[in-house]
Amino acid sequence: MKGAFLKCIKELVITQHGEDQWTKILATSSYPSNKPIMATATVPDEQLFGVMKEARKILRMSKNQFYDAFADYWICIYGPRLSPRHYDEATNSREFLTMLDDIHGRARRRMRGATPPNIEMRWLDEDTVELTYNSERELILMMTALVRALGRYFDDDIERVDLIDDKTVHVGFVSIADDVSAAE
Ligand code: HEM
Repeated sequence: MKGAFLKCIKELVITQHGEDQWTKILATSSYPSNKPIMATATVPDEQLFGVMKEARKILRMSKNQFYDAFADYWICIYGPRLSPRHYDEATNSREFLTMLDDIHGRARRRMRGATPPNIEMRWLDEDTVELTYNSERELILMMTALVRALGRYFDDDIERVDLIDDKTVHVGFVSIADDVSAAE
């Protein structure tokens, strides 16, 4: 996976838990502690997953707690740096989700060796979208955390993010009709 993920984890740990915790995590993981972390370099998945595992252990976080913290940082701080245009264009999480293909396509084109997931969207009804996760990795839990983070970023109407199976997530939005009547 691209070093951007590792850089994001590093910034998250240092700003929220302190430099000493990051040093501890690196010392116990298999990522070489003196190797610089470049956003566009490819980091072997085992090394990235190793850092995540050590981070969870040292920071005493469950998988979901860690993914939520990562997703908040990725969506709210790192993403706007990587893809400012998409943040300017989307005014809510429904719109942002429709741009995911474009965002990941751009990452694929601009970062040699990037293999972001292919996430298909299918509206089941007006307020529910089905996301189908196609990837060489098994990070659907991270995907659910990223969707929850989008709801927090836009402070909008994502009401539920349900994991259906290892490829499928349903995202339920507050019904437009309910939202209108609440505002009245
Ligand atoms: C501005 C926002 C985003 C940017 C710039 C972005 C970009 C990227 C990049 C560069 C990768 C690494 C690919 C690689 O190293 O091979 C990645 C992976 C990933 N992205 Fe995004 N992404 C964004 C938002 C999202 C959102 C909202 C979701 C969820 C719906 C998502 C789901 C994932 C997942 C699950 C991966 C892990 C790789 C995998 O499972 O194969 N991303 N993304």
